[in-house]
Amino acid sequence: MSKVLVTGGTGYIGSHTVVELINEGFEVVIVDNLSNSNVAVLDGIEKITGVRPAFENIDCVDYVSMDRMFAKYENIDSIIHFAASKAVGESVEKPLMYYRNNLVSLINILQLMPIHKVRNFVFSSSCTVYGQPDVLPVTEDAPIKPAMSPYGNTKQIGEEIIRDTIHAAPASYQSIILRYFNPIGAHSTAEIGELPNGVPNNLLPFVTQTAIGIRKQLQVFGDDYDTPDGSCIRDYIHVVDLAKAHVVAVKRMLQGKSLSNVETFNLGTGRGLSVLEILTTFEKVNEVKVPYKIVGRREGDIEKVWADPTIANEVLGWKATETVEETLRSAWAWEQKLRTQTTN
Ligand code: UFG
Repeated sequence: MSKVLVTGGTGYIGSHTVVELINEGFEVVIVDNLSNSNVAVLDGIEKITGVRPAFENIDCVDYVSMDRMFAKYENIDSIIHFAASKAVGESVEKPLMYYRNNLVSLINILQLMPIHKVRNFVFSSSCTVYGQPDVLPVTEDAPIKPAMSPYGNTKQIGEEIIRDTIHAAPASYQSIILRYFNPIGAHSTAEIGELPNGVPNNLLPFVTQTAIGIRKQLQVFGDDYDTPDGSCIRDYIHVVDLAKAHVVAVKRMLQGKSLSNVETFNLGTGRGLSVLEILTTFEKVNEVKVPYKIVGRREGDIEKVWADPTIANEVLGWKATETVEETLRSAWAWEQKLRTQTTN
């Protein structure tokens, strides 16, 4: 059985990916320092799959502990590296924390790969590397724009570190860089989902928390953009679709199907939706009201971005299939379940 290390495996995208890996017969080892997740996520994973993955509470910045972990779980053949700090605003306040967390952890893992003969590496990157693209939908060969935040910069630099490292490594070492658009939604069982600490920065958790009454009102950041309804446009993708792409990427490398040692894929639906479209669709499919008001633009926001997923569809052999309606239903089901759990 192929063994995969998932760093950040109790996080939002990580936990959904662990479920898909287990469903496909992989043995999973999770490394997470629980800085932005809860160990109870393991219960959710076990409820869905019937398997409790191995878990190590380790910070990937800790080289010695990571080295020991690789030695303990022999024969890990692939790594999916999610573990990273990801709040754009916080990264502006604490740049060194972001450079340390996101880059030192990456360097540690890349350095440990040849020592423990782990040859396949999947990296969580982001469409943030494109900034505001000149051409939409955005393809993988679109120019990389100067990063808008230290967080975004860690993704750009991370990609470069991977390219240089794999280039210098023996031919059997390979990586797939996945550029995520906007993951939303939750597992269909509502056993796992997005659980941000404190006040959510991202749209969907704010929408669900407002709908359930934890927040009074959603602020829509700007209605004067150059878009049909004036609000920003993103490519929202169901987190389970996104998770499945990681399984496809690992299999691709294990089966020697990669066309080059480092491949890069856009993970999006190809469909752009505005903030107001998300809001009205959420209200309609879930039959719930979301009080909102239009406020000024949020600093640093991209006006519009959505993916051209053709290369992911045709070369990687993966396609997002969930509808936005289903995705928004799953987000609401998860929020309601969370609420029931906390009031019990
Ligand atoms: N938005 C609101 N109100 C809110 C929150 C968000 O109107 O309370 C709007 C934003 O202005 C934006 C859209 O909803 O137009 C999506 O915002 P998110 O914060 O959910 O997502 P972003 O596209 O801004 O950022 C996300 C990740 C970043 C990542 C970026 C690009 O949060 O980590 O995608 O990959 F860098």
